[in-house]
Amino acid sequence: MPASRRGSGAFTLPSGQVLAIHTRTQDEEDLPHATKKTMADHLRKYESLFTLTPQRMRMIVEAFKETLEIGLEKHGQIVPMIPTYVFGWPTGQETGEFLAVDLGGTNLRVCLVTLQGDGKFEVTQSKYRLTEEQKQGDGQDLFDFCASCLKTFIDSNFEEGSLQPNELLPLGFTFSYPCTQERIDQGTLIRWTKGFGAANTEGRDVAEMFRESLRKKALLMQTFQNVPVELTAIINDTTGTLIASAYVNPKTRVAVIFGTGCNAAYMERIGSIPKIKHLGLDDGAEMAINCEWGAFDSFVHEHLPRTKYDVTIDESSNKPGEQAFEKLISGRYLGEILRLVICELIDDGVLFLGQNTYKIEIPYALDTAFLSLMESDPTEELLMIIGIFTHFFALETTLAERQFFRALAKLVGRRAARLSACGIAAIVSKMGYLEDGCAVGADGSLYNKYPSFPDRVHEGLQDIFGDKGKRVLFLRTFVGSANNDEDSERQGYLHTCLNTRGSRL
Ligand code: BGC
Repeated sequence: MPASRRGSGAFTLPSGQVLAIHTRTQDEEDLPHATKKTMADHLRKYESLFTLTPQRMRMIVEAFKETLEIGLEKHGQIVPMIPTYVFGWPTGQETGEFLAVDLGGTNLRVCLVTLQGDGKFEVTQSKYRLTEEQKQGDGQDLFDFCASCLKTFIDSNFEEGSLQPNELLPLGFTFSYPCTQERIDQGTLIRWTKGFGAANTEGRDVAEMFRESLRKKALLMQTFQNVPVELTAIINDTTGTLIASAYVNPKTRVAVIFGTGCNAAYMERIGSIPKIKHLGLDDGAEMAINCEWGAFDSFVHEHLPRTKYDVTIDESSNKPGEQAFEKLISGRYLGEILRLVICELIDDGVLFLGQNTYKIEIPYALDTAFLSLMESDPTEELLMIIGIFTHFFALETTLAERQFFRALAKLVGRRAARLSACGIAAIVSKMGYLEDGCAVGADGSLYNKYPSFPDRVHEGLQDIFGDKGKRVLFLRTFVGSANNDEDSERQGYLHTCLNTRGSRL
């Protein structure tokens, strides 16, 4: 076998012209061998790599359960099982006006939520796309940006004199990264996830960093003298979703986020959290736990079925070894897994012979949204897939190739959903929720926008638990609301506000 070489490339000539080249990755005589394999043959190989049997899933669930218990027993574990200092469930009758800033994996959002009681609320919001520079630059600059966006939001949503003199608007900060907490208004960043790498932030109290940015902004702009804010709570998106889902459905026991990252939270009896026993809290009371399960099997890699594509993603990430579970599941990585398989087939001389493949060879060029588009292409000719490949990658495809891509997308998406089911099953089984059934609040772009993802998670739960798996129900949006993104965002803000309020009770 000749050594495989990357098939295409583009160079900028001194004249400024771009020269694109394509080199066959196999010697001529190898071509017939490579093309003899049909796409169906190739697919079989990937099927066996990406398929998770129910038996394997149950093994993962057992290992997961043990990991969750260890995280509750001792500090500093790989899956940190973070006590959040959010105590108990909301009543659904909470009222008031709250500001929220939500720093997620892709966007920054600022909003004003009015809780009206009876599970009703109103939201006004602004959304800002984060740049790569902001994600990788200095941490304090990132919080300065948050403060600037908050200032702009306040300026455009509050009229002069609309608040009482000395009135402080409580501000909730949804910070969707692992933070250890000693109080609800403090959080020390353990590590960045989801490709973030802002310097001078890990190991520091991010609530205090944000307060510092607010103070600076107030001094510079004199704005917060008129509309004062007080950062009263810092919470993870999963914890927030847990509380928000319970606000509309009291059967909620667990919350999951499947978006750029993935994670879960649930409510634990304080007596079952040995590592905080020294605090002398009431054993019978309950506290939300932010599992940070994306870290499951990190570094050791002994439980999860990692393929060589997963290993490549991990090793070329800014955090090798970390977030092992998340890297197999979340929206940040699924497109990249598919892209790596395609690149392998380009290298092997199977796909796109004679075409310039440089566009698809750019890391992360294939967004996870494409997987869901490929899967939902309703046309016989798979016209949507033709569009994706010609428009974004300047590549022509045959029908057989398109069918192959679609099937591959299904394999990658299905594996992600079934692994997600393993995590949910571990919590449900550990907490004994199966007999009576429970509701799981779910949010995140993957869950909301990848059409078959929720059904596959549900199917996975039935593969693990048999028919009883049907007793785990998912709540995507609020009762009476349409299933769309806006509602998902509305829910996001509601959760922050409920927690902000909780901290003040
Ligand atoms: C973070 C979690 C977060 C999840 C979903 C993960 O990368 O570590 O804190 O809940 O993404 O946003």
